[in-house]
Amino acid sequence: MGAMDLTLRAWQPDDADALRPLLDDPEIRRWTRALPAAAWIAAQQDGSRHSFAVLRAGELVGNVALKTPGAGLAYWTVGYWTAAHARHQGVASWALREITAWAFGAFTMPSLSLLHQVDNPGSCAVANRGGYRLAEQLPPGGGYPRPGHRHVRDRA
Ligand SMILES: CC(C)(COP(=O)(O)OP(=O)(O)OC[C@H]1O[C@@H](n2cnc3c(N)ncnc32)[C@H](O)[C@@H]1OP(=O)(O)O)[C@@H](O)C(=O)NCCC(=O)NCCS
Repeated sequence: MGAMDLTLRAWQPDDADALRPLLDDPEIRRWTRALPAAAWIAAQQDGSRHSFAVLRAGELVGNVALKTPGAGLAYWTVGYWTAAHARHQGVASWALREITAWAFGAFTMPSLSLLHQVDNPGSCAVANRGGYRLAEQLPPGGGYPRPGHRHVRDRA
């Protein structure tokens, strides 16, 4: 437990009731897959990723995920969101540090990537603060209508 009393654990089917109001947020709907809560949790367990609920003092406040290369991508990616009421309190930054350390310890990938669209300055800031440097600009595609950034953090 850190000073903020944050923990990670795997998503569970019975998180759906707590998750439902969190997904009903325009920013999360804008940047993540819009699915009903139970389907969203099931999708985290489809073998394409390792997703973790972020809890603060036992309350659900976010998500952080490590996605395996796939869907035409050559690299592993990390992603995150924070519940609207818990933003600007260091939750995503903490979760990104945790999953980065866990991923490099559990797997042998030489680097981790983080993708966001150009008009998501919050995600860009979290990436930079987490030691993920801007590596390339990405053209629109793959369901993303705007250009994006790929940030990269190399294994230390
Ligand atoms: C982007 C997001 C994950 C940030 O989560 P968070 O828990 O608020 O992030 P942190 O508190 O760790 O933020 C760290 C710093 O990043 C910067 N930052 C965070 N959100 C920002 C925003 N909307 N605009 C500009 N800078 C922002 C700030 O410098 C912030 O520090 P500060 O609050 O002390 O100013 C959150 O706003 C979110 O869930 N958005 C919707 C989903 C999403 O965009 N996910 C990422 C898809 S790639």
